[in-house]
Amino acid sequence: MVKRFELSDGMLLGYAPIDDEHRALVESLNALAALPADCDQDRIAATLDAFIDAFESHCRLETERFREFGFPKTESHQQHHDDLIARLRELRDQGGNPDELSSEALWILLEEAIREGLQAKSFLQHNGIAD
Ligand SMILES: [Fe+2]
Ligand SMILES: [Fe+2]
Repeated sequence: MVKRFELSDGMLLGYAPIDDEHRALVESLNALAALPADCDQDRIAATLDAFIDAFESHCRLETERFREFGFPKTESHQQHHDDLIARLRELRDQGGNPDELSSEALWILLEEAIREGLQAKSFLQHNGIAD
C-alpha cells in the first residue's frame, strides 16, 4: 500500500493562494509515490519533472507576492528557493524508485513550506493578509 502525504494544518500559512499551491504540490508527489516500483525510468523522470516545474512556478509566484507585500526577507527567501530547486534537479539526475524519490522530494517541499510558516506567517498576519 502506497502512503499518501498530506499537509497538516500547522503547515498552512493562512493565505489561500499559497496554501492551495502547497497542497497541489503535495498531490503531485502523491502521484509520483503511486507509480509502481518497477515503473520505467522515463515515466518516473517525467512525473518528477512535472513536480519540479510546478515547484518552480510556485516559487516564482510566491516571490512575486512577497515582494508586492513588502516582505522584508523576500531576497533570502528567493535564494532558499534556488537552493531547493538545485537539490530537486540533483535528485532527478540521480534517479531512483518512485518511493525514494517522492520521499526525498517531500523533504525538500516541506523545507520550503515550513520556512514560509516560520518566516512569513507572522508578517502576513500582522499585515492583515493571512488569516
Ligand atoms: Fe517559499
Ligand atoms: Fe511555498
